[in-house]
Amino acid sequence: MTGLLRSGAPLPASVRAEAGKRGLPRVVVSTATATAESYLQGAHVTAWAPAGQVDVIWMSEKSAFAPGAPIRGGVPVCFPWFGPLPWGNAPLHGFARVSDWTLAEVTEQGDEVALVFTLSDSEETRASAWPHPFDARYTVTVGAGLTLALEVTNTGAEPITFAEAFHTYLGVGDVRDVSITGLEQAPYVDRLVSPEWLEPTGEPLTITAETDRVYAQPGTIAVVDRAGARTLTITAQGSANAVVWNPWIAKAAAMGDFGDDEWTQMVCIETCNVLDAAVTLAPGERHAMVATISVSATE
Ligand code: BG6
Repeated sequence: MTGLLRSGAPLPASVRAEAGKRGLPRVVVSTATATAESYLQGAHVTAWAPAGQVDVIWMSEKSAFAPGAPIRGGVPVCFPWFGPLPWGNAPLHGFARVSDWTLAEVTEQGDEVALVFTLSDSEETRASAWPHPFDARYTVTVGAGLTLALEVTNTGAEPITFAEAFHTYLGVGDVRDVSITGLEQAPYVDRLVSPEWLEPTGEPLTITAETDRVYAQPGTIAVVDRAGARTLTITAQGSANAVVWNPWIAKAAAMGDFGDDEWTQMVCIETCNVLDAAVTLAPGERHAMVATISVSATE
């Protein structure tokens, strides 16, 4: 597949463009330090593995890869709202994850490759529940770590307010044998119970049932994956919240694009600005949210 890059310029040798699942265009990165792939639909990262590691980014075997439908697994970019909106034309988690992004730049620096995807308001987004002007620039830097950076600029004449999330599906050996640190001191909302903020638990989080929580002011989050013998660490900037999500048994079974037993192999740790931490930008203003995922051996 040629011409995937907006300028039509050739790609570096470590990057190739091809038709992926169901013919959807994707870029595949393969360097000495890592492999990764990203679809233009949603600028969706569907794989990243540092050399010698099994995939860190989890994908469902059941993902439809249907044009215009959310891809199940990987890193959906939720923008400009999170979850449902109570009004208008509002696909769950915003239009960004089902929009076709432009591959604007690909650069190689040492062992790292940066893919830059862009999305701006269009007739389609202006017909959605969030009709505002914006420019989004999403940089995916692939190396021994994976860095995701979403920069949003208000290109209009009025203030805009949006929510955003990297809905990152992390692969784990067995979610029932994982502990998640960095949230011990964070107040949280248990979205399965009520919209109220609850006191921090003071304890590392373990997953023992369906889990859907929004945390405020998280620290550096580490997913200690004993069965997988590794620890996944997520550091973030420009993000006020973290969401932790696992559907567990019944919800997994109820989702058509999620294998019945796949819930044991994943946990979503989402770097985000949601609920009362939605971002407001004055005209011309820009906001960046950045997350870096790295892998180390579990001690
Ligand atoms: C989580 C939400 O972030 O995403 C959950 O907190 C939701 O409520 C989940 O079920 C998956 O959403 P979707 O639209 O990808 O099925």
